[in-house]
Amino acid sequence: MKQYLVVCLGNICRSPIGEGWLRHDAMVRGCRVKVDSAGTSGYHAGDAPDRRSVSTMRAVGIDISNQRSRKFVRSDFQHFDRILVMDRANLRDVLGMARGAEEEAKVALFDPTGAEVPDPYYGGQDGFAQVREQVRLAAQHWLDLDFA
Ligand code: 4NP
Repeated sequence: MKQYLVVCLGNICRSPIGEGWLRHDAMVRGCRVKVDSAGTSGYHAGDAPDRRSVSTMRAVGIDISNQRSRKFVRSDFQHFDRILVMDRANLRDVLGMARGAEEEAKVALFDPTGAEVPDPYYGGQDGFAQVREQVRLAAQHWLDLDFA
């Protein structure tokens, strides 16, 4: 079984979409996974995903409305094989909490091309659809790699 934690700043816009794709695609492929998501900030702890994230995922048949935001914590390094972050600020913040090379090696940008997944929070619904498509391809990469 592979264990993935998807991380962004608020855990209400981008990482819930990443969690949704990884769980959905793993189920379709029959891969055994544990998937969760978290935010480097606790600003939205306990909140449901942003309604724009929920609606853009509902448009492709994936329900993420049951997710709840939580803050990334140090013990996450012990409980996940991969910690996949949406942008370079997340990368810096998560790596700043890592102790040792083994924990650091678990952390990577979610998009394997090295592109950031831009924060759609202050934009319109378009930005959420773009995040959804960027994250869809990236999620396939991780499952291809881990379940080849
Ligand atoms: P996320 O987007 O990191 O993709 O969940 C954000 C959501 C909320 C805020 C920032 C980013 N905020 O500052 O409240």
